[in-house]
Amino acid sequence: MPVVLGIETSCDETAVAVVNDRACLSNIVASQIELHRQFGGVVPELASRQHLELINAVLDRALAESGLSWAEIDGIAVTVAPGLIGALLVGVTCAKTLALVHGKPLIGIHHLEGHICASFLSKPDLEPPFLCLMVSGGHSSLIVVKDYGDYEIVGKTRDDAAGEAFDKVARLLDLGYPGGPAIDRMARQGNPHAYPLPQGKISDAPFDFSFSGLKTAVLRLTEKLPPPLPIPDIAASFQQTITEALASRSIGCAITNNLNTIVAVGGVAANSELRQKLMTKGEENGISVIFPELKYCTDNGAMIACAGALRLSRGFTSDLTIAARSRLSLEECGLIYRHDYQCAQPPH
Ligand code: KG4
Ligand code: ZN
Repeated sequence: MPVVLGIETSCDETAVAVVNDRACLSNIVASQIELHRQFGGVVPELASRQHLELINAVLDRALAESGLSWAEIDGIAVTVAPGLIGALLVGVTCAKTLALVHGKPLIGIHHLEGHICASFLSKPDLEPPFLCLMVSGGHSSLIVVKDYGDYEIVGKTRDDAAGEAFDKVARLLDLGYPGGPAIDRMARQGNPHAYPLPQGKISDAPFDFSFSGLKTAVLRLTEKLPPPLPIPDIAASFQQTITEALASRSIGCAITNNLNTIVAVGGVAANSELRQKLMTKGEENGISVIFPELKYCTDNGAMIACAGALRLSRGFTSDLTIAARSRLSLEECGLIYRHDYQCAQPPH
């Protein structure tokens, strides 16, 4: 079973972890949320600089807490795509250096494959096939995990990602950043049926999402209602609508694809109402629903290390010349292991 050190710097968490196959030995995450909060979102240039400042300390601590020496590490995994390019470069450069200095194989990882692999850390006996609902600040997708490394995206967002919708609505309601946890807390005090809002159904693509109409409907509501705004009721109505869209489409998609397991990953999988809705609907339909622990749901190094261990044990490694890419679809993640990957044209 390979022991892999994983590095994640694609957005605003500087994260390093060590895993032994599906067992996490250490998982250090330095969050930059406080730094970006004053700007109401992630500032790419600040993120790269902060990664540079933090990466060595996070790395040292992850190795120390694992209780292992470099001699006991079998490979170095790192997120190479997609993400903020300057941020990715910090992790990729660090991983290449470690691979070279310590003579270890380098394993480039697609960030979304990492999120999927978070589920193996929480449930080591999980095996494909299963459906993955991936809901984060940058993604809202339904992915059929047919086998290890074999993915089909069967539902995606046409506009905003689910986390983005939470963040934007939170900004409208003056609830601060990041918006998801703030709305989750505020919604507990409100009436989820106070205001009917549109779910954003797409007629020709039943498993796709569209949240821009929902966001605009909340904006119109705030313009129409007399002050003071009933913030808890608006937050609760918004949350009930978006979680209903996510949960009902996930269940429908699992049934259509004959899958009896759904794994929900990404930051929005931390949402209490989404968790409760998916569990209830899953029970009603004989589908088991898995939520990885919160620390594995948001960006972290353990999910990247776990994906690296899976790849390494199947003989996949990357060239030391591998390039970071801001964009790469999950279905193309196999490209990362081709030796001409670093000189191929980035897809558009
Ligand atoms: O996966 P993640 O940590 O980072 C990436 O985007 O890759 O996800 C962050 C997103 C943010 O938009 C945040 O508002 C949302 O996850 N989020 C939540 C909750 N906790 C975090 N959304 C809804 N409810 C929550 N409890
Ligand atoms: Zn992520």
